[in-house]
Amino acid sequence: MQFIEHKGAKVPALGLGTYPMQGEQCYQAVRWALDIGYRHIDTAESYHNEDAVGRALEDSGVPRSEIFLTTKCALFDASAANVGAEFAASLDKLRTDYVDLYLYHWPHAEVPLDETFGALTEAKDAGQVRHIGVGNFTIALMREAVEVHKVDLFTNQFESHPLLRQPKVEAAAHRLGMTVTAHSPIARGRAVDNPLLAEIGAKYGKSAPQVAIRWQLDKANTFLVPKSTRREGLTANFDVFDFALGDDDRAAIETLPNNMRGSRPPFEPDWDPID
Ligand SMILES: NC(=O)c1ccc[n+]([C@@H]2O[C@H](COP(=O)([O-])OP(=O)(O)OC[C@H]3O[C@@H](n4cnc5c(N)ncnc54)[C@H](OP(=O)(O)O)[C@@H]3O)[C@@H](O)[C@H]2O)c1
Repeated sequence: MQFIEHKGAKVPALGLGTYPMQGEQCYQAVRWALDIGYRHIDTAESYHNEDAVGRALEDSGVPRSEIFLTTKCALFDASAANVGAEFAASLDKLRTDYVDLYLYHWPHAEVPLDETFGALTEAKDAGQVRHIGVGNFTIALMREAVEVHKVDLFTNQFESHPLLRQPKVEAAAHRLGMTVTAHSPIARGRAVDNPLLAEIGAKYGKSAPQVAIRWQLDKANTFLVPKSTRREGLTANFDVFDFALGDDDRAAIETLPNNMRGSRPPFEPDWDPID
């Protein structure tokens, strides 16, 4: 495993995404993942699977202190009252008294950032959240949060994979003191059959998804949270620490189409132009 040290935390670079798994399927995937060696789990209030994640963590017997647990609030309602209520319910469902990382899931223009960050900071000040971060923030929003509202942000979690490359957003996050967390790192499955990724992987005895994962792991201060419902998928996605991509491989990946954004909810922000 590779670790990233940031703001006093030492965090596995590779985590497990849990959307859209539900119930027993989610429980089983988290149990398998912990068995395989994953120690970084990504969920959200809006995934409606925190209860399954919480049960799996508890039943696994893995000490809570060994796991980096992320959840997220405010998919639809970023008011302080709603964030406070969601957070209390999240802790309950996750069967824990703290989360390592609490993300403001998607920005909402109608609620002032100060209000939402006030609620997140309150949870942090109470010791129930180790770090706070954001999801799907543009460069302008990251700057507003850090430079205007002076929020100490751990990460920005946004979509990133070989078919959606955003080096300017990554550079801005790093410049503002944040790590990057790549969501949908296998392009929601669309990277699985990509011929170029498969061709690169064949040189190393690896698959296209494994190349997509390795490509993220080679970036500085970058986490990623691929999801698989299958034990073989979880195992394969974890089997990426024994090979390295060459400069020629990275250059070839740069030639792929760069427009496959999969997360486009009606409330999406005004995205930064794709580089
Ligand atoms: N912050 C946000 O707004 C946001 C938005 C989207 C996602 N996320 C997070 O990012 C996580 C991952 O994103 P995602 O689930 O959208 O997409 P993803 O991880 O990019 O891709 C998942 C897809 O790839 C398949 N897959 C995974 N590993 C594979 C392997 N080794 N071989 C073949 N197929 C494989 C999965 O199928 P199987 O399950 O059948 O293996 C599934 O169809 C989510 O679970 C969530 O935690 C966050």
